[in-house]
Amino acid sequence: MAKILITGSAGFIGSHTTDRLLADGHTVVGIDNFRTGRRQNLAEASKSPQFSFHEGDVAKPGELDALVASVKPDGIIHLAALVSVQESMTNPDLNYSLNIHATHLVAEAARKSGVKRIVFASSAAIYGDATALPIREGLEKKPISPYGAAKLASEAILLGHGAAFGITVRCQRYFNVFGPRQDPASPYSGVISIFDRRYRDGKSVTIYGDGQQTRDFISVHDVARANALAATKPGIASGVANICTGRATSLLDAVKVFGKHYPQIAPPAHAAPRTGDIIHSLGAADEAHAALGFSAQVSVEDGLTELIRVG
Ligand code: UD1
Repeated sequence: MAKILITGSAGFIGSHTTDRLLADGHTVVGIDNFRTGRRQNLAEASKSPQFSFHEGDVAKPGELDALVASVKPDGIIHLAALVSVQESMTNPDLNYSLNIHATHLVAEAARKSGVKRIVFASSAAIYGDATALPIREGLEKKPISPYGAAKLASEAILLGHGAAFGITVRCQRYFNVFGPRQDPASPYSGVISIFDRRYRDGKSVTIYGDGQQTRDFISVHDVARANALAATKPGIASGVANICTGRATSLLDAVKVFGKHYPQIAPPAHAAPRTGDIIHSLGAADEAHAALGFSAQVSVEDGLTELIRVG
Protein backbone atom coordinates (compact mmCIF):
# COMPACT_ATOMS: atom_id res chain seq x y z
CA MET A 1 0.00 0.00 0.00
CA ALA A 2 1.22 3.51 -0.81
CA LYS A 3 1.23 6.86 0.95
CA ILE A 4 0.06 9.57 -1.45
CA LEU A 5 0.03 13.33 -0.94
CA ILE A 6 -2.74 15.10 -2.86
CA THR A 7 -2.62 18.85 -3.46
CA GLY A 8 -6.10 20.29 -3.99
CA SER A 9 -7.60 17.36 -2.11
CA ALA A 10 -10.77 19.28 -1.17
CA GLY A 11 -11.58 20.07 -4.81
CA PHE A 12 -13.92 18.29 -7.19
CA ILE A 13 -11.37 15.86 -8.67
CA GLY A 14 -9.12 15.91 -5.59
CA SER A 15 -11.78 14.72 -3.19
CA HIS A 16 -12.91 11.88 -5.47
CA THR A 17 -9.28 10.84 -5.98
CA THR A 18 -8.82 10.86 -2.21
CA ASP A 19 -11.91 8.66 -1.76
CA ARG A 20 -10.71 6.23 -4.46
CA LEU A 21 -7.24 5.79 -2.94
CA LEU A 22 -8.66 5.32 0.57
CA ALA A 23 -11.14 2.72 -0.74
CA ASP A 24 -8.18 0.87 -2.31
CA GLY A 25 -6.45 0.77 1.10
CA HIS A 26 -3.84 3.49 0.56
CA THR A 27 -2.91 6.29 2.96
CA VAL A 28 -3.70 9.83 1.83
CA VAL A 29 -2.42 13.18 3.08
CA GLY A 30 -4.38 16.09 1.65
CA ILE A 31 -3.49 19.76 1.34
CA ASP A 32 -5.89 22.48 0.25
CA ASN A 33 -6.35 26.19 0.94
CA PHE A 34 -10.12 26.14 0.25
CA ARG A 35 -9.84 28.79 -2.44
CA THR A 36 -12.13 26.72 -4.64
CA GLY A 37 -12.11 23.42 -2.71
CA ARG A 38 -14.72 22.79 -0.03
CA ARG A 39 -14.39 21.18 3.38
CA GLN A 40 -17.67 19.34 2.78
CA ASN A 41 -16.07 17.40 -0.10
CA LEU A 42 -13.86 15.61 2.43
CA ALA A 43 -16.71 14.51 4.70
CA GLU A 44 -16.35 10.83 3.72
CA ALA A 45 -12.55 10.84 3.67
CA SER A 46 -12.35 12.44 7.12
CA LYS A 47 -13.96 9.35 8.64
CA SER A 48 -10.97 7.25 7.59
CA PRO A 49 -7.98 6.75 9.93
CA GLN A 50 -5.87 6.51 6.76
CA PHE A 51 -6.60 10.15 5.90
CA SER A 52 -5.00 13.29 7.28
CA PHE A 53 -5.40 16.85 6.14
CA HIS A 54 -3.27 19.98 6.16
CA GLU A 55 -4.85 23.36 5.44
CA GLY A 56 -2.22 25.26 3.47
CA ASP A 57 -1.20 26.96 0.27
CA VAL A 58 0.91 25.03 -2.23
CA ALA A 59 1.84 28.28 -3.99
CA LYS A 60 3.47 29.70 -0.86
CA PRO A 61 7.22 28.99 -1.02
CA GLY A 62 8.38 26.63 1.73
CA GLU A 63 4.94 25.44 2.77
CA LEU A 64 4.92 22.30 0.63
CA ASP A 65 8.63 21.59 1.21
CA ALA A 66 7.99 21.23 4.92
CA LEU A 67 4.91 19.05 4.46
CA VAL A 68 6.55 16.74 1.91
CA ALA A 69 9.68 16.44 4.05
CA SER A 70 7.65 15.37 7.08
CA VAL A 71 5.16 13.09 5.25
CA LYS A 72 7.69 11.45 2.90
CA PRO A 73 5.00 10.26 0.47
CA ASP A 74 5.58 7.60 -2.18
CA GLY A 75 3.90 9.92 -4.68
CA ILE A 76 2.30 13.33 -5.10
CA ILE A 77 -0.88 13.94 -7.09
CA HIS A 78 -0.82 17.65 -7.94
CA LEU A 79 -4.36 18.87 -8.51
CA ALA A 80 -4.25 22.24 -6.72
CA ALA A 81 -4.80 24.92 -9.37
CA LEU A 82 -6.65 27.93 -10.62
CA VAL A 83 -9.34 25.84 -12.27
CA SER A 84 -11.27 28.31 -14.39
CA VAL A 85 -10.25 29.07 -17.97
CA GLN A 86 -12.26 32.27 -17.66
CA GLU A 87 -10.42 33.39 -14.52
CA SER A 88 -7.09 32.80 -16.29
CA MET A 89 -8.25 35.32 -18.92
CA THR A 90 -9.19 38.00 -16.39
CA ASN A 91 -6.21 37.37 -14.09
CA PRO A 92 -3.25 35.94 -16.03
CA ASP A 93 -0.83 36.82 -13.20
CA LEU A 94 -2.73 34.71 -10.73
CA ASN A 95 -2.90 31.93 -13.33
CA TYR A 96 0.89 32.12 -13.64
CA SER A 97 1.36 31.95 -9.89
CA LEU A 98 -1.13 29.14 -9.16
CA ASN A 99 -0.71 27.08 -12.33
CA ILE A 100 2.96 27.46 -13.26
CA HIS A 101 4.95 28.65 -10.26
CA ALA A 102 3.10 26.31 -7.89
CA THR A 103 3.90 23.37 -10.18
CA HIS A 104 7.59 24.27 -10.00
CA LEU A 105 7.32 24.31 -6.21
CA VAL A 106 5.77 20.83 -6.29
CA ALA A 107 8.58 19.56 -8.54
CA GLU A 108 11.16 21.05 -6.18
CA ALA A 109 9.51 19.70 -3.03
CA ALA A 110 9.52 16.24 -4.63
CA ARG A 111 13.18 16.52 -5.61
CA LYS A 112 14.32 17.70 -2.17
CA SER A 113 12.55 14.85 -0.37
CA GLY A 114 13.28 12.11 -2.91
CA VAL A 115 9.64 11.52 -3.93
CA LYS A 116 9.58 8.96 -6.71
CA ARG A 117 6.38 9.85 -8.56
CA ILE A 118 4.26 12.89 -9.51
CA VAL A 119 0.85 12.76 -11.17
CA PHE A 120 -0.28 16.05 -12.68
CA ALA A 121 -3.73 17.44 -13.55
CA SER A 122 -3.25 18.54 -17.14
CA SER A 123 -6.07 19.37 -19.51
CA ALA A 124 -7.38 19.01 -23.05
CA ALA A 125 -7.12 22.83 -23.05
CA ILE A 126 -3.45 22.42 -24.07
CA TYR A 127 -4.64 21.35 -27.56
CA GLY A 128 -6.68 24.52 -28.23
CA ASP A 129 -9.08 24.35 -31.17
CA ALA A 130 -7.99 20.96 -32.48
CA THR A 131 -9.83 20.00 -35.66
CA ALA A 132 -8.33 16.56 -36.31
CA LEU A 133 -10.47 14.26 -34.16
CA PRO A 134 -10.02 12.18 -32.12
CA ILE A 135 -7.26 14.20 -30.50
CA ARG A 136 -4.06 12.20 -30.05
CA GLU A 137 -1.32 13.16 -27.62
CA GLY A 138 1.22 13.87 -30.38
CA LEU A 139 -0.92 16.59 -31.97
CA GLU A 140 0.66 20.04 -32.14
CA LYS A 141 -0.23 21.97 -28.96
CA LYS A 142 -1.85 25.33 -29.55
CA PRO A 143 -3.39 26.52 -26.29
CA ILE A 144 -5.76 29.46 -26.69
CA SER A 145 -5.92 30.61 -23.06
CA PRO A 146 -3.45 31.41 -20.28
CA TYR A 147 -4.93 28.38 -18.52
CA GLY A 148 -4.10 26.01 -21.40
CA ALA A 149 -0.64 27.55 -21.76
CA ALA A 150 0.04 27.10 -18.05
CA LYS A 151 -0.97 23.46 -18.14
CA LEU A 152 1.36 22.86 -21.10
CA ALA A 153 4.23 24.69 -19.39
CA SER A 154 3.62 22.69 -16.22
CA GLU A 155 3.88 19.43 -18.12
CA ALA A 156 7.29 20.51 -19.44
CA ILE A 157 8.47 21.64 -15.99
CA LEU A 158 7.51 18.33 -14.39
CA LEU A 159 8.78 16.09 -17.20
CA GLY A 160 12.10 17.98 -17.19
CA HIS A 161 12.45 17.58 -13.43
CA GLY A 162 11.45 13.95 -13.72
CA ALA A 163 14.07 13.16 -16.33
CA ALA A 164 16.78 15.07 -14.47
CA PHE A 165 16.11 13.76 -10.98
CA GLY A 166 14.67 10.29 -11.46
CA ILE A 167 11.01 11.06 -10.73
CA THR A 168 8.29 9.22 -12.69
CA VAL A 169 5.90 11.90 -13.97
CA ARG A 170 2.44 11.20 -15.35
CA CYS A 171 0.56 14.08 -16.99
CA GLN A 172 -3.17 13.40 -17.13
CA ARG A 173 -4.93 15.40 -19.83
CA TYR A 174 -8.51 15.48 -18.60
CA PHE A 175 -11.32 16.06 -21.07
CA ASN A 176 -14.77 17.26 -19.90
CA VAL A 177 -15.06 15.84 -16.39
CA PHE A 178 -18.47 15.72 -14.71
CA GLY A 179 -20.01 14.31 -11.54
CA PRO A 180 -21.00 15.06 -7.95
CA ARG A 181 -19.26 17.98 -6.13
CA GLN A 182 -18.51 19.99 -9.29
CA ASP A 183 -19.15 23.69 -8.68
CA PRO A 184 -21.93 25.08 -10.91
CA ALA A 185 -21.52 28.67 -9.65
CA SER A 186 -20.27 30.49 -12.75
CA PRO A 187 -21.73 30.66 -16.27
CA TYR A 188 -18.39 29.15 -17.35
CA SER A 189 -18.66 26.15 -15.04
CA GLY A 190 -18.93 22.77 -16.74
CA VAL A 191 -22.21 22.52 -18.62
CA ILE A 192 -23.31 19.35 -16.82
CA SER A 193 -22.93 20.98 -13.40
CA ILE A 194 -24.96 23.98 -14.58
CA PHE A 195 -27.70 21.76 -16.02
CA ASP A 196 -27.81 19.61 -12.88
CA ARG A 197 -28.22 22.65 -10.63
CA ARG A 198 -30.96 24.18 -12.79
CA TYR A 199 -33.02 20.99 -13.05
CA ARG A 200 -32.61 20.48 -9.31
CA ASP A 201 -33.96 24.01 -8.77
CA GLY A 202 -36.93 23.21 -11.02
CA LYS A 203 -35.72 25.47 -13.85
CA SER A 204 -35.25 24.69 -17.52
CA VAL A 205 -31.81 24.96 -19.14
CA THR A 206 -30.42 26.99 -22.02
CA ILE A 207 -28.49 25.33 -24.82
CA TYR A 208 -26.12 27.64 -26.67
CA GLY A 209 -26.52 26.71 -30.34
CA ASP A 210 -28.43 23.73 -31.70
CA GLY A 211 -27.18 21.24 -29.09
CA GLN A 212 -25.41 19.09 -31.72
CA GLN A 213 -22.03 20.11 -30.35
CA THR A 214 -20.22 17.16 -28.76
CA ARG A 215 -17.80 16.67 -25.90
CA ASP A 216 -15.89 13.72 -24.48
CA PHE A 217 -17.65 13.77 -21.10
CA ILE A 218 -15.90 11.56 -18.55
CA SER A 219 -17.20 10.66 -15.09
CA VAL A 220 -15.15 11.94 -12.17
CA HIS A 221 -15.15 8.38 -10.80
CA ASP A 222 -13.23 7.24 -13.87
CA VAL A 223 -10.86 10.20 -13.54
CA ALA A 224 -10.25 9.35 -9.87
CA ARG A 225 -9.44 5.76 -10.86
CA ALA A 226 -7.05 6.98 -13.57
CA ASN A 227 -5.29 9.17 -10.97
CA ALA A 228 -5.05 6.31 -8.50
CA LEU A 229 -3.57 4.04 -11.19
CA ALA A 230 -1.05 6.66 -12.29
CA ALA A 231 0.04 7.19 -8.67
CA THR A 232 0.28 3.59 -7.52
CA LYS A 233 0.66 1.18 -10.44
CA PRO A 234 4.12 -0.39 -10.27
CA GLY A 235 6.59 -0.21 -13.14
CA ILE A 236 5.12 2.60 -15.22
CA ALA A 237 7.21 5.13 -17.15
CA SER A 238 6.92 8.91 -17.35
CA GLY A 239 4.59 10.25 -20.01
CA VAL A 240 1.42 12.03 -20.98
CA ALA A 241 -2.03 10.59 -21.68
CA ASN A 242 -5.51 11.80 -22.47
CA ILE A 243 -7.95 10.91 -19.73
CA CYS A 244 -11.13 10.58 -21.74
CA THR A 245 -13.66 8.01 -22.87
CA GLY A 246 -13.01 8.15 -26.61
CA ARG A 247 -16.76 8.64 -27.12
CA ALA A 248 -18.56 11.79 -28.25
CA THR A 249 -21.80 12.83 -26.55
CA SER A 250 -23.93 15.68 -27.86
CA LEU A 251 -25.54 18.19 -25.52
CA LEU A 252 -28.93 17.05 -26.82
CA ASP A 253 -28.16 13.49 -25.71
CA ALA A 254 -27.08 14.69 -22.26
CA VAL A 255 -30.24 16.78 -21.92
CA LYS A 256 -32.34 13.75 -22.86
CA VAL A 257 -31.11 11.95 -19.73
CA PHE A 258 -32.05 14.93 -17.55
CA GLY A 259 -35.42 15.12 -19.32
CA LYS A 260 -36.20 11.50 -18.37
CA HIS A 261 -35.68 12.30 -14.69
CA TYR A 262 -37.42 15.68 -14.77
CA PRO A 263 -40.40 15.18 -17.12
CA GLN A 264 -42.25 18.10 -15.48
CA ILE A 265 -39.60 20.69 -16.43
CA ALA A 266 -39.96 22.64 -19.69
CA PRO A 267 -37.70 21.55 -22.57
CA PRO A 268 -34.46 23.49 -23.08
CA ALA A 269 -34.45 26.96 -24.60
CA HIS A 270 -31.91 27.64 -27.34
CA ALA A 271 -29.70 30.75 -27.45
CA ALA A 272 -26.97 31.95 -29.80
CA PRO A 273 -23.77 29.85 -29.73
CA ARG A 274 -21.22 31.05 -27.16
CA THR A 275 -18.42 33.13 -28.72
CA GLY A 276 -15.21 31.13 -29.09
CA ASP A 277 -16.94 27.79 -28.50
CA ILE A 278 -15.63 24.76 -30.29
CA ILE A 279 -18.20 22.47 -31.92
CA HIS A 280 -16.63 19.06 -31.34
CA SER A 281 -14.05 17.78 -28.88
CA LEU A 282 -13.09 14.13 -28.62
CA GLY A 283 -10.04 12.40 -27.20
CA ALA A 284 -8.29 9.22 -28.30
CA ALA A 285 -8.21 6.92 -25.27
CA ASP A 286 -5.54 4.41 -26.41
CA GLU A 287 -2.49 5.93 -24.71
CA ALA A 288 -4.00 5.84 -21.20
CA HIS A 289 -4.87 2.21 -21.80
CA ALA A 290 -1.37 1.34 -23.03
CA ALA A 291 0.49 3.29 -20.32
CA LEU A 292 -1.77 2.83 -17.28
CA GLY A 293 -4.15 0.03 -18.17
CA PHE A 294 -6.93 2.61 -17.84
CA SER A 295 -10.15 2.74 -19.77
CA ALA A 296 -13.30 4.59 -18.75
CA GLN A 297 -16.07 2.37 -17.43
CA VAL A 298 -18.92 4.72 -16.53
CA SER A 299 -21.27 5.54 -19.42
CA VAL A 300 -22.48 9.13 -19.70
CA GLU A 301 -26.04 7.93 -19.06
CA ASP A 302 -25.04 6.07 -15.86
CA GLY A 303 -22.83 8.94 -14.71
CA LEU A 304 -25.61 11.48 -15.23
CA THR A 305 -28.15 9.26 -13.53
CA GLU A 306 -25.89 8.98 -10.48
CA LEU A 307 -25.34 12.75 -10.46
CA ILE A 308 -29.08 13.40 -10.65
CA ARG A 309 -29.74 10.98 -7.76
CA VAL A 310 -26.80 11.83 -5.48
CA GLY A 311 -26.23 15.51 -6.33
C1 UD1 B 1 -14.06 24.41 -21.81
C2 UD1 B 1 -13.98 25.35 -20.62
C3 UD1 B 1 -14.18 26.78 -21.03
C4 UD1 B 1 -13.15 27.15 -22.09
C5 UD1 B 1 -13.24 26.14 -23.25
C6 UD1 B 1 -12.13 26.35 -24.26
C7 UD1 B 1 -14.73 24.24 -18.63
C8 UD1 B 1 -15.86 23.95 -17.74
N1 UD1 B 1 -15.02 25.00 -19.70
O1 UD1 B 1 -15.29 24.60 -22.40
O2 UD1 B 1 -14.03 27.63 -19.90
O3 UD1 B 1 -13.40 28.45 -22.56
O4 UD1 B 1 -13.10 24.78 -22.74
O5 UD1 B 1 -10.91 25.96 -23.73
O6 UD1 B 1 -13.59 23.86 -18.41
N2 UD1 B 1 -23.31 25.21 -22.77
C9 UD1 B 1 -24.69 25.36 -22.92
N3 UD1 B 1 -25.40 25.87 -21.88
C10 UD1 B 1 -24.84 26.24 -20.70
C11 UD1 B 1 -23.43 26.10 -20.55
C12 UD1 B 1 -22.70 25.58 -21.62
O7 UD1 B 1 -25.25 25.04 -23.97
O8 UD1 B 1 -25.56 26.67 -19.78
C13 UD1 B 1 -22.56 24.63 -23.90
C14 UD1 B 1 -21.34 25.44 -24.30
O9 UD1 B 1 -21.71 26.50 -25.13
C15 UD1 B 1 -20.51 24.36 -25.00
C16 UD1 B 1 -20.86 23.07 -24.23
O10 UD1 B 1 -22.05 23.37 -23.50
O11 UD1 B 1 -20.88 24.22 -26.34
C17 UD1 B 1 -19.80 22.64 -23.26
O12 UD1 B 1 -19.43 23.76 -22.45
P1 UD1 B 1 -18.40 23.67 -21.22
O13 UD1 B 1 -18.91 22.72 -20.22
O14 UD1 B 1 -18.09 25.05 -20.75
O15 UD1 B 1 -17.10 23.00 -21.85
P2 UD1 B 1 -16.16 23.46 -23.06
O16 UD1 B 1 -16.92 24.12 -24.13
O17 UD1 B 1 -15.39 22.26 -23.44
